[in-house]
Amino acid sequence: MADRIVFGSDHAGLALRAEAVRVAREAGFEVEDLGPFAPASVDYPDYAARVGQAVAGGRARLGVLVCGTGIGMSIAANKVKGVRAAHCTTEYEARMTRAHNDANVLCLGERVVGLGLGAAIVAAFLSQPFEGGRHQRRVDQITALDR
Ligand code: RB5
Repeated sequence: MADRIVFGSDHAGLALRAEAVRVAREAGFEVEDLGPFAPASVDYPDYAARVGQAVAGGRARLGVLVCGTGIGMSIAANKVKGVRAAHCTTEYEARMTRAHNDANVLCLGERVVGLGLGAAIVAAFLSQPFEGGRHQRRVDQITALDR
């Protein structure tokens, strides 16, 4: 079965979400795109919840959320039990949050990073495995905060 990545944005993240979907497809991932599919203003917590639930529920291994800053999406997605959402503005942060935090949702700000850097951050996030080892204990401590 293909490795599935789920995507969502608000109206401020439409273009970078499309870029992120393209990057994932080109890398061979199965894509589930939860929209929105029109330019009208929408509320980012709705999409953060849908993507977060898809990841926490096991329908997708990783999620990508895009809004204007990436901050609202990360605040909202982290309210979903089982989600470890990371707001990243560099490729380094994206690699490290996968390697050390086992982040399962990437949050991007289209108005902050733009399309080129945004696409590179997505590629870094999707290609970096979790390192486990000493980091697993700390991730388990994060998971315990959900209870
Ligand atoms: C929408 O204008 C904007 O508030 C939203 O995209 C996001 O940046 C919130 O954190």
